[in-house]
Amino acid sequence: MRNQKIVLGLMSGTSADGLTICAVRIQPFAVLAFKNYAYPAALQQKLLRAYTLSVCEVSALHYDLGALYARLAVRFLKEFGFNAKQVEAVGMHGQTIYHGPHDKTPNTLQIAEPSFLALKLGCPVVSDFRPADIVLGGEGAPLMPFFDEFIFGKKAPKILLNLGGIANISVEGKGVKSFGFDVGPANTLLDLACRKYFNKAFDKGGRLSAKGTPDKNKAARLLSQPFFSQKPPKSLDRNAFGEAYLSTHFSSVKNPYDLLATLAYFTAACVGKAVTDFVPEKYQKELIVSGGGVYNKTLLRFLSEVLPHVKITASDAYGIAPQAKESAAFALFGYLALHHKINHCARATGACKNTILGKITYAN
Ligand SMILES: Nc1ncnc2c1ncn2[C@@H]1O[C@H](COP(=O)(O)OP(=O)(O)O)[C@@H](O)[C@H]1O
Ligand SMILES: [Mg+2]
Repeated sequence: MRNQKIVLGLMSGTSADGLTICAVRIQPFAVLAFKNYAYPAALQQKLLRAYTLSVCEVSALHYDLGALYARLAVRFLKEFGFNAKQVEAVGMHGQTIYHGPHDKTPNTLQIAEPSFLALKLGCPVVSDFRPADIVLGGEGAPLMPFFDEFIFGKKAPKILLNLGGIANISVEGKGVKSFGFDVGPANTLLDLACRKYFNKAFDKGGRLSAKGTPDKNKAARLLSQPFFSQKPPKSLDRNAFGEAYLSTHFSSVKNPYDLLATLAYFTAACVGKAVTDFVPEKYQKELIVSGGGVYNKTLLRFLSEVLPHVKITASDAYGIAPQAKESAAFALFGYLALHHKINHCARATGACKNTILGKITYAN
């Protein structure tokens, strides 16, 4: 393990819960190690409210995050017994602070300056994967379907569900023309309500929501909002399901436990509708779940309730730890970009063609 070449993947998703770092081997592909480094609470709050910051504050945050990522990458290598010379490349997603593919000027913004990492580790860093997709007319998201096809493309058809801040699915497998899209909230609303009513970052194990009763009628009513019936490709900014959504649609649920149960049920119901409406019936057999939401047992229980005919499995059954999957994908995307290879599934984003996503920052 000490001498082989590795590629690092760095992912910080819409939950802004922290930075996940993983080390992968490219051939044959395997996740060798991963760890989630939680952001300090103040940093998380700042990131979640990044749209209220001034340009100077955003610029400073871009450098602060880049420096933090470099420090955490060094710590990760030390903790897992790797040395910097083994690292062939880094694929870094960056922190999304705004996603506006439908604005007058389509745009998306991921921050964290990659020069810190490149100079500290002495290897190229590939970052900023989304802009080229936007320029090609795509949503800039989801990018995971390429990775899902890479891992699952030759197996029996499956639905892959990631429960990060936002929930997205891909459909992959032998004979499937892979596609994917954002389906709705995953943990954004749950995390906000947890912070507000229980002063906790998230509902660990789904224990709090398990104590409540979901308002299933409310969830059903909300599913009539246009986004849920809109045909893919489609993507979401986390603020689509932020504080305003929570207060507009859920303030009538007074008991905080019932509120969490309702939010967990609503999340499951969004996935249920997306699968039923947009995934061909013959592929509705197995759903493989990744992302931190997989640890929320209430959410998973509701998921099997809304999709009783589908087998639900966590991604570790296929050798990929649920919280490592997205960082592993960006390690692969970075490696492919460096080798001038396509790392893009335009079918999932609506871009007019596949391209090589990412920008390279060299160490020298
Ligand atoms: N043990 C757990 N129990 C319940 N929920 C969890 C647990 N661990 C993580 N989560 C949820 O997963 C979220 C982070 O998931 P992650 O896949 O890292 O999302 P993102 O890609 O948006 O960063 C947390 O904000 C939390 O809501
Ligand atoms: Mg995360």
